[in-house]
Amino acid sequence: MPSTGHRSSWSNRWTFMLATAGSAIGLGNIWKLPYMIGVNGGSAFVLVFLACIVVAGIPLMMCEIMLGRRAQRNPVDGMQALAHEAHAPTAWKWVGVSGLFAGLLILSFYSIIAGWVLDYIVRAASGQFHGIDGATAKKYFNDFLAAPLELLFWHTLFIFMTLGVVARGVNAGLEKANKILMPTLLAILMVLIGYSMAAGDFARSAHFMFAPDFSKVTPVAVLSALGHAFFSLSLGMGAVMVYGSYLQRHVSIARTSIYVALVDTGVGLLVGLAIFSLVFANGLEPAAGPGLIFQTLPIAFGRMPGGDMIGTLFFVLVAFAAWTSAISLVEPAIAWLTENTSLTRKQSAWLIGITDWLLGIAVLLSFNKWQDVHLLFGLGIFDTLDKLTSTIMLPLGGLAMAIFAGWVMRANHVQEELGLANATYQLWRLTIRYIAPLAIVAIFAYLTGLIK
Ligand code: PFF
Repeated sequence: MPSTGHRSSWSNRWTFMLATAGSAIGLGNIWKLPYMIGVNGGSAFVLVFLACIVVAGIPLMMCEIMLGRRAQRNPVDGMQALAHEAHAPTAWKWVGVSGLFAGLLILSFYSIIAGWVLDYIVRAASGQFHGIDGATAKKYFNDFLAAPLELLFWHTLFIFMTLGVVARGVNAGLEKANKILMPTLLAILMVLIGYSMAAGDFARSAHFMFAPDFSKVTPVAVLSALGHAFFSLSLGMGAVMVYGSYLQRHVSIARTSIYVALVDTGVGLLVGLAIFSLVFANGLEPAAGPGLIFQTLPIAFGRMPGGDMIGTLFFVLVAFAAWTSAISLVEPAIAWLTENTSLTRKQSAWLIGITDWLLGIAVLLSFNKWQDVHLLFGLGIFDTLDKLTSTIMLPLGGLAMAIFAGWVMRANHVQEELGLANATYQLWRLTIRYIAPLAIVAIFAYLTGLIK
């Protein structure tokens, strides 16, 4: 593969790992995984989830990093160059194009939720949760969603935070931000765990999350574990590919993928333990999604000693998790612009920032003034974008990448890039050619309602 001239690269494999873990650990780990575990059979579901991570997640992550590193380009030109090398149609570049758009679309709603989180940092720090009950917590949240200008303020701030980092480039931006944010996130997590062990109902939380109940592990639960393994590792849209394109040749792709998957899953489990021990200690019921973080937890924080501080720390943790994921959502588009147009990185960041800011306005209006606007599948703007990206674009992107690496690329090129021992390589190849594509087709059919 011809070189692309001078291109930035990560300072070492640790910073690559931090950045990839930063992309993976996001809102998905915090409000989705713990609840899914709780209602789907506890440790029985954890075993299934781990199996999905091992069988499909890690091999696909290796595949995406491998594609990026071999191409040394943004996902669009990268797929095109790899297709050229394999004497395949250059239409494969559309996999990159779709990923690039998926990232922009995801950021438009990710930024709105991250904006809620920023607002809740201020609420927690200013003691607004003291003694609130369920009805008040619900009213706070609903009033907030009904106020477009407030939502706009936080959305604008989050877009600035995200593009501000990306504008500085791979080393001074992405790498530096992840080097500060990720260790801080882990430190806050430790404090939260310590606090919830001391003041929460840790035993009940552990029981809720880990008591095995194999009868709840239905085929649908297995498919949702697979879908989540995929989203949680940020696969299928080129974010991991573009991060891989900044990776030096000598780094082991397999080892790095395993570490990232371990940290991502570990953080999801620990956050869950902390959250549910606070929820149970206050006699509350666990909920899923936004309700858990923006309604149930504030009640718990408002009742506990030191709750203002712990609440503030918790929302800072969620904000950091969302921020490092958001950075990876725009990097494919920024890399494409800087490598294909005369725009500088800063100008590209402005362009993408304004585009996503405008898209985000449509999303935030869908919670109030445009509540009745329905797009695809009869869903509102927010839900349409969520469904379109996480249930259609990402799985299809992942499927295409697996097929490309397993069936289109020359096996010796893949082997050269992965540098695996022969037996391990054969196992990976078997997975990427058969198991991962079948798994993705099943998730896709399930998520789009073809399998119920
Ligand atoms: N992995 C992120 C989460 O669990 O919240 C979401 C995500 C980030 C998906 C970046 C895809 C992506 F490229």
